Amino acid sequence: MFPIEKFRAIPTPFYFYDVELFRRTAQAALSEAQKYGYAIHYALKANASEKLLRLLSGMGFGADCVSGAEVQRAIGCGFSPQGIAFAGVGKRDDEICLGIDNRIFSFNCESEQELEVVNELAKAKGAAAQVALRINPNVDAHTHAHITTGLDENKFGINLWQLNDVAKKVRQMSNLKLVCIHFHIGSQITELEPFVELCAKVNELQEQLERIGVTVEHVNVGGGLGVDYEHPEEHSIPQFAAYFATLNRHIKLRKGQTLHCELGRSIVAQCGSLITKCLYVKELQKKNFVVVDAGMTDLIRPALYSAYHKIENITPQHANEKVYDVVGPICESSDVFDKHVALPQTQRGDLIAIRTAGAYGEVMASRYNLRQLPKAYFSDEV
Ligand code: LLP
Repeated sequence: MFPIEKFRAIPTPFYFYDVELFRRTAQAALSEAQKYGYAIHYALKANASEKLLRLLSGMGFGADCVSGAEVQRAIGCGFSPQGIAFAGVGKRDDEICLGIDNRIFSFNCESEQELEVVNELAKAKGAAAQVALRINPNVDAHTHAHITTGLDENKFGINLWQLNDVAKKVRQMSNLKLVCIHFHIGSQITELEPFVELCAKVNELQEQLERIGVTVEHVNVGGGLGVDYEHPEEHSIPQFAAYFATLNRHIKLRKGQTLHCELGRSIVAQCGSLITKCLYVKELQKKNFVVVDAGMTDLIRPALYSAYHKIENITPQHANEKVYDVVGPICESSDVFDKHVALPQTQRGDLIAIRTAGAYGEVMASRYNLRQLPKAYFSDEV
Protein backbone atom coordinates (compact mmCIF):
# COMPACT_ATOMS: atom_id res chain seq x y z
CA MET A 1 0.00 0.00 0.00
CA PHE A 2 2.86 2.44 0.75
CA PRO A 3 5.28 3.43 -2.04
CA ILE A 4 8.32 2.39 0.03
CA GLU A 5 10.90 2.97 -2.69
CA LYS A 6 9.69 6.54 -3.15
CA PHE A 7 9.65 7.06 0.60
CA ARG A 8 13.37 6.35 0.73
CA ALA A 9 14.06 9.63 -1.04
CA ILE A 10 11.99 11.72 1.41
CA PRO A 11 13.48 12.96 4.68
CA THR A 12 11.58 11.56 7.68
CA PRO A 13 9.40 12.13 9.62
CA PHE A 14 6.58 13.19 7.31
CA TYR A 15 2.84 12.82 6.89
CA PHE A 16 1.65 10.79 3.95
CA TYR A 17 -1.91 11.13 2.67
CA ASP A 18 -3.60 8.56 0.48
CA VAL A 19 -5.57 10.91 -1.76
CA GLU A 20 -7.56 8.16 -3.40
CA LEU A 21 -8.82 6.91 -0.01
CA PHE A 22 -9.52 10.50 1.04
CA ARG A 23 -11.67 11.07 -2.03
CA ARG A 24 -13.56 7.82 -1.54
CA THR A 25 -14.17 8.62 2.13
CA ALA A 26 -15.39 12.14 1.46
CA GLN A 27 -17.59 10.91 -1.36
CA ALA A 28 -19.07 8.18 0.86
CA ALA A 29 -19.90 10.74 3.57
CA LEU A 30 -21.42 13.12 1.06
CA SER A 31 -23.54 10.48 -0.69
CA GLU A 32 -24.96 9.22 2.60
CA ALA A 33 -25.74 12.76 3.79
CA GLN A 34 -27.32 13.71 0.50
CA LYS A 35 -29.76 10.82 0.78
CA TYR A 36 -31.52 12.91 3.40
CA GLY A 37 -30.62 16.39 2.16
CA TYR A 38 -28.17 16.98 5.04
CA ALA A 39 -25.22 19.36 4.80
CA ILE A 40 -21.70 18.50 5.99
CA HIS A 41 -19.41 21.24 7.20
CA TYR A 42 -15.96 19.68 7.26
CA ALA A 43 -14.20 20.56 10.54
CA LEU A 44 -10.93 22.17 9.46
CA LYS A 45 -9.43 21.68 12.87
CA ALA A 46 -8.93 18.00 12.07
CA ASN A 47 -6.69 18.73 9.10
CA ALA A 48 -6.34 22.03 7.28
CA SER A 49 -4.18 20.88 4.36
CA GLU A 50 -4.91 23.18 1.45
CA LYS A 51 -4.87 20.38 -1.05
CA LEU A 52 -7.42 18.33 0.88
CA LEU A 53 -9.55 21.41 1.54
CA ARG A 54 -9.68 22.26 -2.17
CA LEU A 55 -10.86 18.73 -2.91
CA LEU A 56 -13.61 19.04 -0.30
CA SER A 57 -14.79 22.48 -1.37
CA GLY A 58 -14.92 21.23 -4.95
CA MET A 59 -17.16 18.37 -3.88
CA GLY A 60 -19.62 20.71 -2.19
CA PHE A 61 -18.71 20.44 1.48
CA GLY A 62 -19.26 23.36 3.80
CA ALA A 63 -16.68 24.24 6.45
CA ASP A 64 -16.61 24.34 10.24
CA CYS A 65 -13.98 26.78 11.47
CA VAL A 66 -12.75 27.68 14.95
CA SER A 67 -10.50 30.64 14.28
CA GLY A 68 -10.22 33.59 11.96
CA ALA A 69 -7.27 31.89 10.30
CA GLU A 70 -9.40 28.83 9.60
CA VAL A 71 -12.15 31.01 8.14
CA GLN A 72 -9.56 32.64 5.88
CA ARG A 73 -8.05 29.30 4.91
CA ALA A 74 -11.50 27.90 4.08
CA ILE A 75 -12.39 30.86 1.88
CA GLY A 76 -8.95 30.77 0.26
CA CYS A 77 -9.47 27.09 -0.57
CA GLY A 78 -12.76 27.67 -2.30
CA PHE A 79 -15.40 27.15 0.37
CA SER A 80 -18.35 29.45 -0.01
CA PRO A 81 -18.66 31.80 3.00
CA GLN A 82 -22.36 30.88 3.02
CA GLY A 83 -21.28 27.37 3.95
CA ILE A 84 -19.01 28.38 6.83
CA ALA A 85 -19.96 27.83 10.45
CA PHE A 86 -17.68 29.63 12.90
CA ALA A 87 -17.51 27.95 16.28
CA GLY A 88 -15.35 28.43 19.35
CA VAL A 89 -15.84 29.52 22.92
CA GLY A 90 -13.42 32.46 22.61
CA LYS A 91 -13.74 34.34 19.34
CA ARG A 92 -11.75 37.58 19.20
CA ASP A 93 -13.35 40.79 17.87
CA ASP A 94 -11.18 40.84 14.75
CA GLU A 95 -12.17 37.23 14.02
CA ILE A 96 -15.84 38.08 14.40
CA CYS A 97 -15.41 41.07 12.08
CA LEU A 98 -13.83 38.81 9.47
CA GLY A 99 -16.87 36.55 9.64
CA ILE A 100 -19.29 39.49 9.41
CA ASP A 101 -17.44 40.98 6.45
CA ASN A 102 -17.63 37.68 4.63
CA ARG A 103 -21.28 37.09 5.52
CA ILE A 104 -20.64 33.59 6.79
CA PHE A 105 -23.44 31.08 7.34
CA SER A 106 -23.38 31.22 11.13
CA PHE A 107 -21.54 32.27 14.23
CA ASN A 108 -22.07 29.44 16.65
CA CYS A 109 -22.35 31.50 19.82
CA GLU A 110 -21.66 30.08 23.22
CA SER A 111 -22.84 32.78 25.65
CA GLU A 112 -25.08 35.78 26.00
CA GLN A 113 -22.06 38.03 26.19
CA GLU A 114 -20.69 36.69 22.94
CA LEU A 115 -24.07 37.30 21.24
CA GLU A 116 -24.00 40.89 22.48
CA VAL A 117 -20.50 41.39 21.10
CA VAL A 118 -21.41 39.95 17.68
CA ASN A 119 -24.51 42.15 17.65
CA GLU A 120 -22.51 45.28 18.50
CA LEU A 121 -19.82 44.56 15.92
CA ALA A 122 -22.46 43.89 13.25
CA LYS A 123 -24.30 47.06 14.19
CA ALA A 124 -21.13 49.12 13.83
CA LYS A 125 -20.79 47.77 10.30
CA GLY A 126 -24.46 48.26 9.48
CA ALA A 127 -24.64 44.53 8.84
CA ALA A 128 -26.68 41.60 10.08
CA ALA A 129 -24.97 38.46 11.37
CA GLN A 130 -26.53 35.02 11.26
CA VAL A 131 -26.09 33.19 14.52
CA ALA A 132 -26.61 29.76 15.99
CA LEU A 133 -27.02 29.09 19.66
CA ARG A 134 -24.52 26.47 20.70
CA ILE A 135 -26.42 24.51 23.29
CA ASN A 136 -24.71 22.25 25.76
CA PRO A 137 -27.15 19.32 25.79
CA ASN A 138 -25.63 17.51 28.78
CA VAL A 139 -25.28 14.26 26.82
CA ASP A 140 -22.42 11.91 27.66
CA ALA A 141 -20.46 10.95 24.54
CA HIS A 142 -18.68 8.08 26.36
CA THR A 143 -15.35 9.06 24.93
CA HIS A 144 -12.04 10.28 26.37
CA ALA A 145 -12.59 12.97 29.04
CA HIS A 146 -10.40 15.45 27.14
CA ILE A 147 -12.60 15.22 24.05
CA THR A 148 -16.03 15.16 25.71
CA THR A 149 -17.67 18.50 25.23
CA GLY A 150 -21.40 18.17 25.84
CA LEU A 151 -21.58 17.84 29.63
CA ASP A 152 -22.64 20.53 32.09
CA GLU A 153 -19.14 20.59 33.54
CA ASN A 154 -17.54 21.46 30.17
CA LYS A 155 -16.80 25.04 29.18
CA PHE A 156 -18.72 24.73 25.94
CA GLY A 157 -22.11 26.06 24.98
CA ILE A 158 -25.15 27.62 26.58
CA ASN A 159 -26.44 25.51 29.45
CA LEU A 160 -29.99 24.20 29.33
CA TRP A 161 -31.14 26.31 32.25
CA GLN A 162 -30.04 29.49 30.47
CA LEU A 163 -31.46 28.62 27.07
CA ASN A 164 -34.91 30.24 27.11
CA ASP A 165 -33.53 33.40 28.57
CA VAL A 166 -30.77 33.70 25.99
CA ALA A 167 -33.10 32.81 23.10
CA LYS A 168 -35.51 35.56 24.14
CA LYS A 169 -32.68 38.09 24.39
CA VAL A 170 -31.35 37.28 20.90
CA ARG A 171 -34.69 38.36 19.50
CA GLN A 172 -34.05 41.83 20.87
CA MET A 173 -30.60 42.09 19.30
CA SER A 174 -31.37 44.05 16.17
CA ASN A 175 -28.39 43.01 14.09
CA LEU A 176 -28.56 39.28 14.69
CA LYS A 177 -30.62 36.70 12.91
CA LEU A 178 -31.04 33.46 14.82
CA VAL A 179 -30.95 30.79 12.14
CA CYS A 180 -29.72 27.65 13.85
CA ILE A 181 -29.34 25.66 17.01
CA HIS A 182 -26.00 23.93 17.33
CA PHE A 183 -24.75 20.98 19.38
CA HIS A 184 -21.53 18.99 19.64
CA ILE A 185 -21.17 16.28 22.25
CA GLY A 186 -17.62 15.12 21.72
CA SER A 187 -15.24 13.38 19.39
CA GLN A 188 -14.19 9.81 18.51
CA ILE A 189 -17.66 8.49 19.34
CA THR A 190 -17.74 4.88 18.22
CA GLU A 191 -21.23 3.87 19.36
CA LEU A 192 -24.33 5.36 17.80
CA GLU A 193 -26.21 5.51 21.11
CA PRO A 194 -24.91 8.98 22.14
CA PHE A 195 -26.20 10.35 18.81
CA VAL A 196 -29.61 8.80 19.51
CA GLU A 197 -29.59 10.55 22.89
CA LEU A 198 -28.55 13.79 21.26
CA CYS A 199 -31.43 13.57 18.78
CA ALA A 200 -33.90 13.05 21.63
CA LYS A 201 -32.49 16.13 23.33
CA VAL A 202 -32.70 18.17 20.12
CA ASN A 203 -36.35 17.17 19.71
CA GLU A 204 -37.12 18.15 23.28
CA LEU A 205 -35.35 21.50 22.96
CA GLN A 206 -37.01 22.35 19.66
CA GLU A 207 -40.36 21.96 21.42
CA GLN A 208 -39.17 23.98 24.38
CA LEU A 209 -38.05 26.83 22.12
CA GLU A 210 -41.23 26.72 20.06
CA ARG A 211 -43.23 27.20 23.25
CA ILE A 212 -41.56 30.60 23.63
CA GLY A 213 -42.02 31.36 19.96
CA VAL A 214 -38.49 30.65 18.78
CA THR A 215 -38.07 28.64 15.58
CA VAL A 216 -34.95 28.11 13.47
CA GLU A 217 -34.30 27.09 9.87
CA HIS A 218 -31.31 24.92 10.65
CA VAL A 219 -30.21 22.31 13.17
CA ASN A 220 -26.51 21.54 13.47
CA VAL A 221 -25.58 18.39 15.39
CA GLY A 222 -21.80 18.92 15.29
CA GLY A 223 -19.26 16.21 14.60
CA GLY A 224 -17.83 13.34 16.55
CA LEU A 225 -18.25 10.21 14.47
CA GLY A 226 -15.34 7.95 15.41
CA VAL A 227 -12.95 5.82 13.37
CA ASP A 228 -11.38 2.41 13.91
CA TYR A 229 -7.82 3.03 15.08
CA GLU A 230 -7.25 -0.69 15.62
CA HIS A 231 -8.17 -1.83 12.11
CA PRO A 232 -7.32 0.89 9.62
CA GLU A 233 -7.36 -1.53 6.67
CA GLU A 234 -10.61 -3.35 7.41
CA HIS A 235 -12.51 -0.19 8.33
CA SER A 236 -10.82 2.38 6.16
CA ILE A 237 -14.16 4.16 5.57
CA PRO A 238 -16.23 4.95 8.67
CA GLN A 239 -19.85 3.93 9.15
CA PHE A 240 -21.41 6.99 7.49
CA ALA A 241 -24.50 5.10 6.34
CA ALA A 242 -25.39 4.03 9.89
CA TYR A 243 -24.59 7.48 11.31
CA PHE A 244 -26.84 9.41 8.94
CA ALA A 245 -29.57 6.77 9.10
CA THR A 246 -29.50 7.09 12.91
CA LEU A 247 -29.86 10.85 12.72
CA ASN A 248 -32.64 10.48 10.20
CA ARG A 249 -34.49 7.94 12.30
CA HIS A 250 -34.33 9.88 15.52
CA ILE A 251 -34.36 13.58 14.77
CA LYS A 252 -37.65 15.34 14.16
CA LEU A 253 -37.03 18.14 11.72
CA ARG A 254 -39.66 20.77 11.06
CA LYS A 255 -40.86 21.47 7.56
CA GLY A 256 -38.19 23.30 5.61
CA GLN A 257 -35.53 22.72 8.27
CA THR A 258 -32.08 21.56 7.18
CA LEU A 259 -29.83 19.33 9.24
CA HIS A 260 -26.13 20.10 9.33
CA CYS A 261 -23.20 18.22 10.80
CA GLU A 262 -19.53 19.01 11.29
CA LEU A 263 -17.50 15.88 10.65
CA GLY A 264 -13.74 16.14 10.90
CA ARG A 265 -11.96 13.01 12.03
CA SER A 266 -14.16 10.56 10.14
CA ILE A 267 -13.38 12.31 6.83
CA VAL A 268 -9.62 12.49 7.13
CA ALA A 269 -8.19 10.20 9.82
CA GLN A 270 -7.71 6.97 7.91
CA CYS A 271 -6.08 8.47 4.84
CA GLY A 272 -3.08 9.81 6.78
CA SER A 273 -0.03 8.10 8.25
CA LEU A 274 3.00 9.49 9.98
CA ILE A 275 6.06 7.95 8.35
CA THR A 276 9.14 7.78 10.50
CA LYS A 277 12.48 6.01 10.52
CA CYS A 278 14.02 3.78 13.15
CA LEU A 279 17.09 5.57 14.48
CA TYR A 280 18.17 3.07 17.09
CA VAL A 281 17.17 -0.24 18.59
CA LYS A 282 17.91 -0.59 22.26
CA GLU A 283 17.74 -4.16 23.48
CA LEU A 284 17.78 -4.24 27.26
CA GLN A 285 17.33 -7.12 29.65
CA LYS A 286 13.67 -6.46 30.31
CA LYS A 287 12.63 -4.36 27.37
CA ASN A 288 13.38 -3.50 23.79
CA PHE A 289 13.02 0.01 22.48
CA VAL A 290 12.67 1.22 18.94
CA VAL A 291 13.69 4.88 18.90
CA VAL A 292 12.17 6.60 15.89
CA ASP A 293 12.79 10.06 14.46
CA ALA A 294 9.17 11.22 14.90
CA GLY A 295 8.10 12.38 18.32
CA MET A 296 5.20 13.82 20.26
CA THR A 297 5.91 17.08 18.46
CA ASP A 298 4.76 15.42 15.23
CA LEU A 299 1.85 13.40 16.62
CA ILE A 300 0.82 14.29 20.16
CA ARG A 301 -2.30 12.12 20.48
CA PRO A 302 -0.65 9.14 22.26
CA ALA A 303 1.05 11.43 24.80
CA LEU A 304 -1.94 13.71 25.32
CA TYR A 305 -4.86 11.30 25.31
CA SER A 306 -3.16 7.90 25.63
CA ALA A 307 -4.57 7.42 22.15
CA TYR A 308 -3.84 4.23 20.29
CA HIS A 309 -2.38 4.34 16.76
CA LYS A 310 -1.46 1.17 14.94
CA ILE A 311 2.27 0.98 14.29
CA GLU A 312 3.72 -0.99 11.38
CA ASN A 313 7.24 -1.64 10.21
CA ILE A 314 6.75 -1.15 6.47
CA THR A 315 10.24 -2.09 5.35
CA PRO A 316 9.90 -5.49 3.67
CA GLN A 317 11.52 -8.26 5.70
CA HIS A 318 10.95 -11.76 6.94
CA ALA A 319 12.55 -11.85 10.35
CA ASN A 320 10.75 -13.02 13.45
CA GLU A 321 8.62 -10.70 15.52
CA LYS A 322 9.84 -8.99 18.64
CA VAL A 323 8.08 -6.82 21.17
CA TYR A 324 9.15 -3.18 21.45
CA ASP A 325 8.23 0.08 23.06
CA VAL A 326 8.19 2.56 20.19
CA VAL A 327 9.47 5.91 21.42
CA GLY A 328 10.40 9.30 20.02
CA PRO A 329 13.46 11.48 20.52
CA ILE A 330 11.87 14.21 22.66
CA CYS A 331 13.13 14.78 26.19
CA GLU A 332 9.86 13.78 27.86
CA SER A 333 8.95 10.38 29.28
CA SER A 334 5.53 10.69 27.68
CA ASP A 335 7.11 10.72 24.23
CA VAL A 336 6.03 7.14 23.62
CA PHE A 337 3.93 6.10 20.62
CA ASP A 338 3.02 2.74 22.13
CA LYS A 339 4.31 0.06 24.45
CA HIS A 340 4.59 -3.70 23.85
CA VAL A 341 4.23 -3.46 20.09
CA ALA A 342 4.90 -6.66 18.17
CA LEU A 343 6.92 -5.78 15.07
CA PRO A 344 9.10 -7.79 12.74
CA GLN A 345 12.62 -7.61 14.11
CA THR A 346 13.43 -3.97 13.54
CA GLN A 347 16.71 -2.40 12.48
CA ARG A 348 18.17 1.06 12.19
CA GLY A 349 16.88 2.62 8.96
CA ASP A 350 13.59 0.71 8.81
CA LEU A 351 10.56 2.78 7.91
CA ILE A 352 7.71 2.77 10.38
CA ALA A 353 4.14 3.89 9.65
CA ILE A 354 1.95 5.25 12.44
CA ARG A 355 -1.51 4.81 11.06
CA THR A 356 -4.81 6.67 11.24
CA ALA A 357 -2.96 9.93 11.77
CA GLY A 358 -4.75 12.08 9.21
CA ALA A 359 -6.93 13.81 11.80
CA TYR A 360 -5.51 15.88 14.66
CA GLY A 361 -1.99 14.85 13.66
CA GLU A 362 -0.25 17.38 11.47
CA VAL A 363 -2.44 20.22 12.76
CA MET A 364 -1.37 19.61 16.36
CA ALA A 365 2.34 19.42 15.63
CA SER A 366 4.60 21.78 17.55
CA ARG A 367 8.16 23.05 17.36
CA TYR A 368 9.11 21.95 20.88
CA ASN A 369 12.86 21.24 21.10
CA LEU A 370 13.10 23.51 18.03
CA ARG A 371 12.17 20.62 15.79
CA GLN A 372 10.96 21.27 12.26
CA LEU A 373 7.25 20.87 11.63
CA PRO A 374 6.60 17.66 9.69
CA LYS A 375 5.95 18.07 5.96
CA ALA A 376 3.05 16.52 4.08
CA TYR A 377 3.26 14.33 0.96
CA PHE A 378 0.37 13.09 -1.13
CA SER A 379 -0.01 9.76 -2.88
CA ASP A 380 -0.73 11.38 -6.23
CA GLU A 381 2.36 13.59 -6.09
CA VAL A 382 5.26 11.49 -4.73
N1 LLP B 1 -17.67 20.59 15.80
C1 LLP B 1 -17.19 21.07 16.96
C2 LLP B 1 -17.91 22.16 17.62
C3 LLP B 1 -16.05 20.51 17.55
O1 LLP B 1 -15.61 20.98 18.71
C4 LLP B 1 -15.37 19.44 16.89
C5 LLP B 1 -14.17 18.85 17.46
C6 LLP B 1 -15.88 19.00 15.67
C7 LLP B 1 -17.04 19.58 15.16
C8 LLP B 1 -15.24 17.89 14.89
O2 LLP B 1 -15.30 16.70 15.59
P1 LLP B 1 -14.84 15.32 14.90
O3 LLP B 1 -15.84 14.96 13.84
O4 LLP B 1 -13.50 15.52 14.34
O5 LLP B 1 -14.83 14.36 16.03
N2 LLP B 1 -7.67 16.72 19.27
C9 LLP B 1 -8.63 15.71 19.65
C10 LLP B 1 -10.01 15.96 19.10
C11 LLP B 1 -10.59 17.30 19.48
C12 LLP B 1 -11.94 17.54 18.89
C13 LLP B 1 -12.40 18.92 19.15
N3 LLP B 1 -13.66 19.25 18.56
C14 LLP B 1 -8.09 14.35 19.22
O6 LLP B 1 -6.98 14.29 18.71
O7 LLP B 1 -8.73 13.34 19.43
